[in-house]
Amino acid sequence: MHIKTALAASVAALSYVTIAHANPQAEVLHWWTSGSEAKSVAVLQQEFAEKGGTWTDMPVAGGGGDAAMTALRARVLSGNAPTAVQLKGPAIQEWYAEGVLADISAVAEAQGWAKVLPESIANHMKCDGTWCAAPVNVHRVDWIWANKVLLDQHSIAMPNTWEEFNAAADKLKAAGVTPLAHGGQSWQDATVFETVVLGIGGPDFFRKALVDLDKDALTSDTMVKVFDQMRKMRGYVDANFSGRDWNLATAMVMNGEAAFQIMGDWAKGEFLAAGKTPGTDFLCGSTPGDGYLYNVDSFAMFKVDGQDKIDGQNLLAELIVGPNFQKVFNMNKGSIPARTDVALNDFDDCAKLSAADMGTTSDAGSLLPSYAHGMALRGAQAGAITDVVTAHFNSDMSSADAVKMRAEGVANSM
Ligand code: GAL
Repeated sequence: MHIKTALAASVAALSYVTIAHANPQAEVLHWWTSGSEAKSVAVLQQEFAEKGGTWTDMPVAGGGGDAAMTALRARVLSGNAPTAVQLKGPAIQEWYAEGVLADISAVAEAQGWAKVLPESIANHMKCDGTWCAAPVNVHRVDWIWANKVLLDQHSIAMPNTWEEFNAAADKLKAAGVTPLAHGGQSWQDATVFETVVLGIGGPDFFRKALVDLDKDALTSDTMVKVFDQMRKMRGYVDANFSGRDWNLATAMVMNGEAAFQIMGDWAKGEFLAAGKTPGTDFLCGSTPGDGYLYNVDSFAMFKVDGQDKIDGQNLLAELIVGPNFQKVFNMNKGSIPARTDVALNDFDDCAKLSAADMGTTSDAGSLLPSYAHGMALRGAQAGAITDVVTAHFNSDMSSADAVKMRAEGVANSM
């Protein structure tokens, strides 16, 4: 190369590097709008700002993220994707197949993600061998939360079987206490449903029915029993459950208006944000049965123009998997770190239980992806299942009819 040209090129590269890190930008689409969720995501905003980043917040309210995903589709279709999006499970690979995701492998490799993330989590973050998402945490879905004072008052222990759960709920109901705090939104119905599938059918059945969509499992007598239990659950919720947000259901347990809630450990984030202590004010236990349903939150970066935005994406990816963020965020959020090298000493007992159970279920082959939280199936398939769960919960449909209707719905979604 001619000396002058080489000089010009290196000056350009130099100024490019300086400009490149001058003002990282990120517009971040997420659905973390409850008190504890907002507190958690603020940790990322703060770290991003401390590194010179400018964060444009795009929160889309609605637990479980259905509304956020609708907003995302609209933005991508109009050719104006947000820089970073809360996205998880197979939806990451679905968006990748559309050709709209950015490759963050350079950050992942520089930061050694492969060494600090369990393989099961890392696999969800990869698209054709490249890194296309950054994991935030591991939420466990199959939890039951309880108001300790109410249980003590009524001499009720945390249930270990669904029979024990029903007996406790019947006793509470007879005493005029709402047994189950629930919000009638389809993703919450699906959350309860999948814990019942796991508990009544067991881990292998769960995998066949809700991961492999095995027709025999979906139409089995076990599935009829699952819907029978869902019908019982319907009798344990209060009259105003319809449409209620999940965090308001958590507040009912907190305030002694209801005894139990079945919900992922983002519910614990709400208890902790309200200054409540596990073991004293509230109790946590896995829902009856073996296994562990995981839900890994992550962020994917969308292809955008402009070096400031690309710098913002790289900086975000680096911070998200960084050890400090993984600790502080997850202590607020109720989840546990995705990284395996973050000490849990400062975490609460429910988080420690989650980590221990994740290890044992991983060894036993019963660590399973949550279908209700988009970890197991493509959106259309999960939707076909949830439609029937919700229709059954909100009508007097028989269990046999629900099973039949669902088998048809799933076949059409394939
Ligand atoms: C889940 C998500 C959690 C929590 C919850 C309620 O799908 O993974 O992080 O936000 O929805 O909004």
